[in-house]
Amino acid sequence: MSKEKVVLAYSGGLDTSVCVKWLQDEKNLDVVCVCGNVGQEEIGLDAKKQKALDLGVLDCQVLDLRDEFSDEFLTKAIAANSMYENKYPLLSALSRPLLAKKLVEVAHEFGATYVAHGCTGKGNDQVRFEAAVKALDPELKVIAPVREWDLKCRPDEVAYAHAHNVPVPEGANDNPYSIDDNLWGRAIECGHLEDPWNEPLDDAWVMTKNPEDTPDAPTYTEIEFEAGKPVAVDGKKMKLSEIVIALNKISGDNGFGRLDLVEDRLVGLKSRECYEVPGALTLITAHKALEDICVEGDLLKTKIKLEQDWATAVYNGQWYSPLKNALDAFMADTQKFVTGTVRLKFFKGNCHVVGRKSPFSLYDYGLATYDRDTTFDEKASAGFIEIDTLSLKTWAKVQGPSSAAAQA
Ligand code: ARG
Repeated sequence: MSKEKVVLAYSGGLDTSVCVKWLQDEKNLDVVCVCGNVGQEEIGLDAKKQKALDLGVLDCQVLDLRDEFSDEFLTKAIAANSMYENKYPLLSALSRPLLAKKLVEVAHEFGATYVAHGCTGKGNDQVRFEAAVKALDPELKVIAPVREWDLKCRPDEVAYAHAHNVPVPEGANDNPYSIDDNLWGRAIECGHLEDPWNEPLDDAWVMTKNPEDTPDAPTYTEIEFEAGKPVAVDGKKMKLSEIVIALNKISGDNGFGRLDLVEDRLVGLKSRECYEVPGALTLITAHKALEDICVEGDLLKTKIKLEQDWATAVYNGQWYSPLKNALDAFMADTQKFVTGTVRLKFFKGNCHVVGRKSPFSLYDYGLATYDRDTTFDEKASAGFIEIDTLSLKTWAKVQGPSSAAAQA
């Protein structure tokens, strides 16, 4: 009788290679690996595929997901100015639902009973993978080997790998950090960073230059948007994945895009995280500046509140959920007139918006100017304030600080 099958999210690193062996030996399953390229600093995807095949997997599918990730996920993240707790632009939270979707597709293709991932039991990513899988196919069962096995730390995994003929990458015990990266940036945690008082060491940063080592003259860049989507950089039309790559370089070379923060994980603990998100922060900064002139004021205020709900839903693994779908529909509606150009100035680790223009700009020079020929009727403001403060004045007389009630 043929064995049951499991589709594993495989990165080619030590964790997921050990997962392959463990699923074969401990669970008696045939393994199919899926290795998604979402723009991580992946070297040697072919070698990783070969490594999986050498471990005896049924198949190892290496999928180039960069454009799907950009067009389906980053576009929505930009529309929602995605910032969990107002500070983290959600890079890992954006890639997991796409990888989960591919696991489900490949599971259907192979008639697999299970999908598996290499996430630990105390992070957000396990929840994101599993919530997405359940939303896409509630019948599929999930196995999380790292949560189940008794390999407590990296040296335990290395020992298991040696004992089971799993090739161990050189320096597997040396890497001081846990890294997750994709087009949208790079997350750095663990090691020296686990003490939130420790300043990150220089070796934590890869995509961004130390601001002290950046050019002594500013760099100006223009980003063009159409209906909320970035379409060109410095006049050059590009697809979104190329725009993100171009901006990662421009911003990173100017030392912009480093974050060092403590965030609240879904599982209830606070976690110190460093991120390099040069392109992401640049695009969100520019996009917000364009919205400032293109989105009507009341709508903008409501959007800013709902952006937090969007980011929290995505952070918490609710990419495929009715709440997130409805929020996306709201966000999409707000983007219809977000078309125009934003001019940015990078200098020594900073990025400032220094210009914005749009054919749909609601900024009215005649109303805003302090020149004599302004179209704003200042005399009308007296009546406006009279009515606007009516409720406040009534309160002040009856209950306010100088009222009889307050004196009593
Ligand atoms: N804390 C971030 C998040 O939950 C990043 C997680 C990154 N994962 C990693 N293995 N370093 O989205």
